[in-house]
Amino acid sequence: MSRIVVVLNGPNLNLLGKREPEIYGRETLADVEAECRRLGAELKLAIEFHQSNREYEIIDWIHGARERAAAIVINPAAFTHTSVAILDALNAFGGPIIEVHISNVHKREAFRHLSFVSAVASGVIVGCGTEGYALALRRIATLIGEDKG
Ligand code: DQA
Repeated sequence: MSRIVVVLNGPNLNLLGKREPEIYGRETLADVEAECRRLGAELKLAIEFHQSNREYEIIDWIHGARERAAAIVINPAAFTHTSVAILDALNAFGGPIIEVHISNVHKREAFRHLSFVSAVASGVIVGCGTEGYALALRRIATLIGEDKG
């Protein structure tokens, strides 16, 4: 069984650590990727990590995960609140999906309270900082079970 986990990051997350650090913290996306790879090795998950500012690229990575990856972790960033296209792509995936938001979107502007992606997510992790990605990987390891070799 596949142990591939595709970790997807939406627009502006390339600026993590530099943009609005009072909201998103000082860790960079490279730090997040390194932690995902470290924890992935521990949990025997093969991590594929991507970021894009382009909606179609995120959709293409979701399509690429079909029938190949065990699970998806996605922080769709601003596309969370706008993208039916990403929801439709995720609906065609089939495996577990964990939605992550670094900030607590429910404490912020009303337009951030709606997530199209939550309708398909197995779980949602909100407001736990960049640690949310590690929590998501641990949840996926629980959902897909141990590597029995
Ligand atoms: C975010 C929250 C979104 O509302 C925002 O557009 C982002 C990041 C988060 O991780 O807290 O870019 O997804």
